[in-house]
Amino acid sequence: MRYAVFSDVHGNLEALGAVLDFCHASRVDGHICCGDVVGYGPNPEECLGLIRQLKNLHIVCGNHDLAVIGRIDVEWFNPYARAATLWTRAALSDGSRLYLENLTARLDLPDFTVVHGTPRRPADEYMLSVAQFKNNMSRVKAWPLFCGHSHMPVSFHCTAEGKVETYFIEDHQCVTGDVAPYGIVPVAYNPGSVGQPRDHDKRASCALWDREARTFQVFRFAYDVAATQAKIRSAGLPEYLALRLAYGQ
Ligand SMILES: [Fe+2]
Repeated sequence: MRYAVFSDVHGNLEALGAVLDFCHASRVDGHICCGDVVGYGPNPEECLGLIRQLKNLHIVCGNHDLAVIGRIDVEWFNPYARAATLWTRAALSDGSRLYLENLTARLDLPDFTVVHGTPRRPADEYMLSVAQFKNNMSRVKAWPLFCGHSHMPVSFHCTAEGKVETYFIEDHQCVTGDVAPYGIVPVAYNPGSVGQPRDHDKRASCALWDREARTFQVFRFAYDVAATQAKIRSAGLPEYLALRLAYGQ
């Protein structure tokens, strides 16, 4: 069974379109979305509409999703994120708002776990260091753990000797830290960001997880960045949000 894994779409319809075209062509059996569908980008409503239709979808909310529905105070956000959050609130339909309100921050499934940030603080802690991964290990019942939030494709893998190894995963690179027995070996996978990559590669990022082969492969896709930038500008969103897309940061 193969799942498409993606995160941090952030209202970028052009990037999401490129990723979903690939998912459909790959005939995946299911989809895992690690949150932050909205915020920053100019098409939150359209992105939610597409994602809600995906088959066998396992989705959690991220900190931007929560801010848009008023469950995180935007005073904690930087000025660009704050402006985008307020804009997104006005742009969403009642149905989309309700959909976000009904998302959970964490999914504990028999075969895997999904959060936006970390198991300890699912909505807003960045999983960036070996220490953070170790500190969160006892909070996971089923591995692998899928997470987003950092906007960088990366994996954390605990070896049989108890050492944690991390990898930044490049385009088409396939990693497998999860050898038998299934669901026991601690490994976390971040598919990177669809709509606002921050690893200096501006291409949209996603991954395929093969549940039986225990592999996680990252894929990057060029999309029409200029079109998204034009929409950001015409929506009156901060210029910085348009510029950063061209640099992948
Ligand atoms: Fe995000």
